[in-house]
Amino acid sequence: MSDHGADAAARKLPLRYSDDIQGDILAGFRKDHETVLMLRFPDDPEPVRKWLRRLIPQISTTRQVAAFNAEYSTARHTLAGTDPAGLSATWMNVSLTYPGLKFLMGTEPLPDQEPDGVQAFVQGAFARAEINGDQGDSAPEEWLFGRADQPVHAVLTIASDDQAKLEVRASELRVAAARAGLTVTFEQVGATLPGERRGHEHFGFKDGISQPGVRDFDRPDPRDPIHVDGKPGTRILPAGEFVLGHPKLTGDAPQLPEWTRNGSFQVVRRLAQDVPAWWAQAGAARRQLDKEGVELPPGTGTEWLAARAVGRWRSGASVAHNPNAEPPTKPGAPDDNLISYVEDGEGHTTPHFAHIRKTNPRDGIGGDFAPADVRRIIRRGIPYGQPFDPAAGQGHGPDADRGLVFIAYMSDLAFQFEFLQQAWINNRDFLQAETGTDPVIGVDSDVTLKLDTLPSGRKLHFAQFVRTEGTVYAFAPSLSTLRELAG
Ligand code: HEM
Repeated sequence: MSDHGADAAARKLPLRYSDDIQGDILAGFRKDHETVLMLRFPDDPEPVRKWLRRLIPQISTTRQVAAFNAEYSTARHTLAGTDPAGLSATWMNVSLTYPGLKFLMGTEPLPDQEPDGVQAFVQGAFARAEINGDQGDSAPEEWLFGRADQPVHAVLTIASDDQAKLEVRASELRVAAARAGLTVTFEQVGATLPGERRGHEHFGFKDGISQPGVRDFDRPDPRDPIHVDGKPGTRILPAGEFVLGHPKLTGDAPQLPEWTRNGSFQVVRRLAQDVPAWWAQAGAARRQLDKEGVELPPGTGTEWLAARAVGRWRSGASVAHNPNAEPPTKPGAPDDNLISYVEDGEGHTTPHFAHIRKTNPRDGIGGDFAPADVRRIIRRGIPYGQPFDPAAGQGHGPDADRGLVFIAYMSDLAFQFEFLQQAWINNRDFLQAETGTDPVIGVDSDVTLKLDTLPSGRKLHFAQFVRTEGTVYAFAPSLSTLRELAG
């Protein structure tokens, strides 16, 4: 691009060119391999500042990641949808927990701790476990990281197209941390699933489809400027919903100190998935409908019910547009994301309990997108563990560790992530009485399945087969704030 062209592009979408906002927030790393290192600082801040000074030049910026992703997409398009072999990158970003920030600042980072989002960050995920429904098997005392007795000060997220390159970078970072007296308290690896399952989570469903678009980062569709170009249904929201110091949908955001500008709050959660148990439960619930004589369209098996639990079929096609059967996939077609729930107010097609309706009710609250838009989060999760496939040998059986490394960015932990967990996912009376909790990630409950042919609904029990094994709340500061913290 000529200088003139680059200037014009930067004026139109300035956030694409940000050297201050860290990578993975607005421009996703989107890699096949990822490692998350949880670090504890030593008692003396000086070596930590020095460590940070050396780390900063290695941090990926939004500009770098966005430019790489654009080049990758163009190359992929030219290669008719296959991955361009020569293009690879290794990225890294850093976030700090409240104790980590306080340690580096040497003073109270957030003098006004009144706002809920600030309180959530200050208290940390361990103290907020009840709000998030982390009880029983998910109780924080059992967590692998984020427990009260095991402080985390910083989180490094390293991602690469190439596993060997990722390992080299991660070991360099481990050595540098150890030299400065930092301890790795937990290390979580993640990787996209192999073969046809790439881009799918362990239950088998395509993930990473519906993300918010971001104003001044994503290009609007010239014919439909509320949506991202080439991504029908991806609504463009103001950047302040995800990055601090930018305009928000509502003007009443709490005023946070200047150092938070261009930073973003982060949730890192390890969510273990019991794949065989979840599918066995879906099968049992499906058989129960037969036993009770509920009439269903011909050919609707367990997949049909599981798709209703998610709100999408395994391929990612929405139940909203394909109520009774998974449609054939159309190569090159945009994701099926232009979804409205206005005509499905009773949840006869996409149930009120469906995971994607619970976590983004879209226009299904009073016919207006606004109540859902203000709760949106940017998801950057990646699976961990091998796919469930007992015939494939060790690591693939029912007892092996597998699940989702859930990573999300937002501007307010309480208003966005915690609200989703408490008021929608785990709320039995979401939208209507006795809807039930989210059958994919919610706590145990009866859900009410309603259909046009069954308007009064039928109760089905869904126990929880996604267990929380660790959570950390952190803040990914701007590069300029990190430089100040490094002294
Ligand atoms: C193991 C745990 C989880 C699994 C297996 C899972 C699976 C999925 C799948 C298959 C989709 C549909 C694909 C897509 O639209 O990207 C989805 C969407 C989504 N999930 Fe999850 N998810 C998990 C945890 C969570 C958590 C903890 C949250 C938030 C608290 C969350 C929030 C969302 C949101 C906001 C969407 C997009 C909804 C939409 O806009 O239509 N998920 N998830």
